[in-house]
Amino acid sequence: MAPVSAMLPRWRLYSWSTNLMSLGTTLYLEGAEFQYQEAEKKILKGIDLEIRAGEWIALLGPNGSGKSTLLKLFNALLLPSQGCCFIDGINTKETNVSEIIRSKVSIIFQNPEDQIVASVVEEDTAFGPENLGLPSPEIKKRVKEALTEVGLWEMRKQPVSSLSGGQKQRLALAGVLAIKPGALLLDEAMSMLDPSSRKSFLDLIKREHGYGRTIVQVTHRLEEIVDSDRTFIITDGELSWHGNTETFLSMSDDSIKNMGFAKPPVAVLKEELVKNGTVAMSTKSNIADIREKLCL
Ligand SMILES: Nc1ncnc2c1ncn2[C@@H]1O[C@H](COP(=O)(O)OP(=O)(O)OP(=O)(O)O)[C@@H](O)[C@H]1O
Ligand SMILES: [Mg+2]
Repeated sequence: MAPVSAMLPRWRLYSWSTNLMSLGTTLYLEGAEFQYQEAEKKILKGIDLEIRAGEWIALLGPNGSGKSTLLKLFNALLLPSQGCCFIDGINTKETNVSEIIRSKVSIIFQNPEDQIVASVVEEDTAFGPENLGLPSPEIKKRVKEALTEVGLWEMRKQPVSSLSGGQKQRLALAGVLAIKPGALLLDEAMSMLDPSSRKSFLDLIKREHGYGRTIVQVTHRLEEIVDSDRTFIITDGELSWHGNTETFLSMSDDSIKNMGFAKPPVAVLKEELVKNGTVAMSTKSNIADIREKLCL
C-alpha cells in the first residue's frame, strides 16, 4: 500500500508533519532600488518581480550587474533604499523581522570556507539551529537529518579541515538545511567545485526543489540552469529579460551570445533532436528529459 505521504496533496503533507520541510517561500520585490552608502550610483534600479513558492529561478547577468546585491535583499542582509522586498508577505523593512526572514531564506556563497563557523562537522551544522534557540533534542535531530541529507552523517565527528572542497560546500548546505528555510539562494555556489562535486551538489539542489523549496540560483554556467523554471537576467541593475528557462535556452546561438552567454551543449543537442523530429519542442533541455523522450 502507498505510504500516507504519497496520498496527500503536497500542502497538506507539509502542514501535517514538522519532520518534513515547510512549503517554499515567496519572494517579492516592488520597485526595489539599492545604493551602497557613499557609492555614486544605484546598483539596483526599480526592480519588480515575484518568485512563487517552490519555483526554481536562474538569475544571470554580467559581473557587477547586481546579482549578489539582489540576493542580499531577499534575506534582509541589505534593505532596499527605495521600494520594498516582501518575504512570504513580510516587509523586510519592518522592525524585528530579520530573524524570521533569515529562518525562511538562506544564502549559500561561492566559497565554502567563508561559511564554516566551527571546527568539527556536526558542530558546524548545529550552529544555525542553536542560534534559533531550539531545544537540544531538536538541534540533534536537525543535525542528523541535515547531515544525512547531504551524505556527511558518517563524517560528523571529523574536523572540517579534513573535508574536500565539495564536501565543505555540502556541509554549508547542511548548515542551512538545519534551519529549514523555505528558500535557498545560491550565489555561484558551485563555481569553485570540480565537475563531479558540482554534479552531486546540483543533484542535492534538485532534491531540495523536489521537496518544495524555492531556489534562486546565480550562475554564469548555463548548463547548471537546465532544471530551473524561469530565468531572470540583470543588466546594470535592471531586469533586462525574464521568461521560461526553456524559452531562453531555445533562442538562437547568436541571441544567447549577444546576451553574453554560451548555449549549453545539452540545449544544442535538444535543438538538433527537435529539428529531425526525434523529440518535441516541449522537451526540457536536460539529459534526463531527453533520455526519457528517446526511450518512448
Ligand atoms: N559593499 C559594497 N560597497 C560598495 N559597492 C559595492 C559593494 N558590494 C558590491 N558593490 C558594487 O555593486 C555592484 C554590483 O555588485 P554585485 O556583487 O551585486 O554584482 P554581481 O552581479 O554579483 O557581480 P559578480 O558576477 O561579479 O559576482 C558592483 O559594481 C560592485 O562593485
Ligand atoms: Mg556576485
